[in-house]
Amino acid sequence: MELHWDGNNTSVDERNRSAAFGTGALPPTLDRPSIHRTEDWLLDAAPPAYPYPVDAALASKGKPVYAEHCARCHGASGTDFTGELVGKVTPIDVIKTDRHRLDSYSFALCVNQGQLYAAYPSERFQHFRKTNGYANQPLDGVWLRAPYLHNGSVPNLWSLLEPSSMRPASFFRGYDVYDPRNVGFVATVGKEGQKAFFAYDTTLPGNGNFGHEGPAYGTDLPEDSKQALIEYLKTF
Ligand code: HEC
Repeated sequence: MELHWDGNNTSVDERNRSAAFGTGALPPTLDRPSIHRTEDWLLDAAPPAYPYPVDAALASKGKPVYAEHCARCHGASGTDFTGELVGKVTPIDVIKTDRHRLDSYSFALCVNQGQLYAAYPSERFQHFRKTNGYANQPLDGVWLRAPYLHNGSVPNLWSLLEPSSMRPASFFRGYDVYDPRNVGFVATVGKEGQKAFFAYDTTLPGNGNFGHEGPAYGTDLPEDSKQALIEYLKTF
């Protein structure tokens, strides 16, 4: 699959070595066995189950809504990732989410990445590509991934199913208390004791909470269909 948000790589190994490089590992010091062990573990790791009650009858009503509106991009279910467009990139003009991340990965950067590991021919990157959008990814464990979208600009699933004009313009990130009503972490609390949470301002460049909206993305579904869809997504 073309993943890594903008779909710029199909190789998990290259993505991981690139991330290790970015956080300070150098080709001679890279802990290859640990990276491979993590990779192998991740390949079939199952997400933790949703920890609150799930209304099975409501979730079963959400299943066909998901199949109709979401499955072709996000996979048949939380465990079956088949689907016409899964692991492919949706062009930015279609998905219309914030394009700063996409633009920050330039063609020049892509070419320069090919120079890394120059003394290690078998490890030089071959799969990085400049793309023109964001990737359609599987949604396993989606309940635990909030805040949503590549820039974490939408605090919960309920808001993601609202048009962007209705999504919170600012909220707090970093609180670990769960919000089972909206499905995400509580994002309205700025401080607990000595701990201040990060104030996320969606009006800043790169922080936009728009896109992934309109009839193709479920934001104009009737409220009861949205509720059923969210209940179903809790089972992923
Ligand atoms: C045309 C393909 C397409 C369709 C249809 C689609 N999505 Fe998406 N979805 C995407 C893309 C691309 C992204 C990533 C956008 C970004 O991060 O900027 C995304 C992101 C998401 C995310 C955020 C994932 C995360 O980890 O942050 C969720 C949740 C989601 N979609 C749910 C849905 C649901 C539910 C539906 C159906 C109502 C749906 N999508 C329909 C392409 C699609």
